[in-house]
Amino acid sequence: MVRFMGRVLTDQVIIITGASSGIGAATAIQCAKAGMDVVLNARRADRLEQVAAQICELGRHAKIVVGSVTDEGMTEQMLDVAQDAFGRFDVVFANAGYGFERSVVQMDDQELRQIFDVNFFASFDLIREAAKRLISDERPGHLLMCSSCLAKFTLPFFSAYSATKAAQNHFCRAMRLELARYNIEVSSVHPITTTTEFFEVSNQLSGKADKTSTVPDHASKMFVQTPERVARAIVRCLGKPRPEVWTSHIVRSVAGVMTAFPWFFDLVVRKQAKGRRDL
Ligand SMILES: NC(=O)c1ccc[n+]([C@@H]2O[C@H](COP(=O)([O-])OP(=O)(O)OC[C@H]3O[C@@H](n4cnc5c(N)ncnc54)[C@H](OP(=O)(O)O)[C@@H]3O)[C@@H](O)[C@H]2O)c1
Repeated sequence: MVRFMGRVLTDQVIIITGASSGIGAATAIQCAKAGMDVVLNARRADRLEQVAAQICELGRHAKIVVGSVTDEGMTEQMLDVAQDAFGRFDVVFANAGYGFERSVVQMDDQELRQIFDVNFFASFDLIREAAKRLISDERPGHLLMCSSCLAKFTLPFFSAYSATKAAQNHFCRAMRLELARYNIEVSSVHPITTTTEFFEVSNQLSGKADKTSTVPDHASKMFVQTPERVARAIVRCLGKPRPEVWTSHIVRSVAGVMTAFPWFFDLVVRKQAKGRRDL
């Protein structure tokens, strides 16, 4: 039996969206190491198969649901697969998401709506439906959304992305209090720069020349982490639930100061906006 700082995770079932790479894939593996079975979702079937194979090698079970989180009926499909294969789900991690860099004046409505559909509305839909099912089955559970440190402050050209992450953060905080009486935990995850495919995708969508880098030009090495580190922090939170998962105390503290003192925010990030006439 694997116990993580309190709660027993062995034989628990987690549903993870965006599990074909990065933080989602690393979390799936880490959960399997903690003794959990996993339902994996993303659009790339081959990559999901690879993650599922690693989970099976760890002696746990994995089921795959291929498709976009925005597909009609995807929420129900994921929850039903967990129910049919494992008889229930205990944890849901709405992690699928992406970003792009665009100045506000150059952003069109469609790309703004699309990023809200994937990052916010799809994760909200999954978490809300999961909460309804847990309540009606009178079962405890833990619901998480992968937000970002950029939920607490933004950067020039990241307004759309930050707005989706802030929306996730606010919903999690409210839901956490609303659902406490049903013994359902809700947490938001706030990674800093993480070496995943995120920036590759972002660079492509932003029309940047460098389409392969795994970290942005502005990132200092001190503030770059691996997806495995985020995954371990998430599993610790499953063992001992708390409102927010952070992996950098420095960034968390700076976010607090920037919120309290907007002039400090200007001072810190002004440099980033300078010289960016390409977007
Ligand atoms: N990397 C960072 O620095 C960082 C920092 C803070 C927060 N985050 C957040 O962490 C989460 C995971 O990102 P990551 O860093 O691990 O990047 P990643 O490696 O690019 O992973 C993104 C995952 O989301 C999936 N995905 C994207 N759109 C989807 C859709 N419409 N339907 C289903 N799945 C979809 C991708 O799979 P398919 O392409 O196969 O569908 C992939 O598995 C995101 O919510 C991101 O905002 C990342």
